[in-house]
Amino acid sequence: MRLNITDMKKKHLVKVVDLDGKIAQSPWTMPMFLEELELGSFCRVLLDEYGEVIGYCISRLQVDEWHLLTVGINSSHRNMGLGSRLLKDLIRKAALNYDKAVLLEVRSSNAVAINLYKKHGFTVLHIREGYYKTAQAAEDAVVMKRLIKGGDREIIS
Ligand SMILES: CC(C)(COP(=O)(O)OP(=O)(O)OC[C@H]1O[C@@H](n2cnc3c(N)ncnc32)[C@H](O)[C@@H]1OP(=O)(O)O)[C@@H](O)C(=O)NCCC(=O)NCCS
Repeated sequence: MRLNITDMKKKHLVKVVDLDGKIAQSPWTMPMFLEELELGSFCRVLLDEYGEVIGYCISRLQVDEWHLLTVGINSSHRNMGLGSRLLKDLIRKAALNYDKAVLLEVRSSNAVAINLYKKHGFTVLHIREGYYKTAQAAEDAVVMKRLIKGGDREIIS
């Protein structure tokens, strides 16, 4: 199976929104994705050989720190190292850009994602209590950070 990471374009958005709607706990709207494209955020897609969207990752640069805003992999393609590939792609981008760090927020119940981030060197900075709110409940956010090192420029995703 040949899968490539490439820049997200407007032509990918219908499929990205569809995938995000199936897998994200708080799905984004089309205008939210469009805004990141228009802002010049680092918007990446993982495509199969037929151009189907298998995954996506969006990060925004704030001064010299990247904020990972959303990442997802199609349920049928999980645990194959693809989420790791998208993370490595971002870490290499940050390193090539001489930026300092990658930061993110994740739901405290999302053990799969938290484990994935820890595996890639993210550590917990702090907990934002009740950050994710619905009408019924609130959930804490775990804020995680990964400092960029010189060697990260050599990462292969
Ligand atoms: C988080 C996500 C992107 C990971 O994608 P993926 O392609 O499966 O990731 P990888 O295959 O690279 O790594 C999977 C890692 O998940 C973790 N993991 C998998 N199953 C797990 C489980 N049942 N419990 C805890 N951790 C688990 C492990 O750390 C695993 O690494 P390992 O292969 O060394 O065991 C994917 O699960 C997803 O899209 N989830 C829905 C959207 C989401 O939660 N995004 C993150 C929001 S912050």
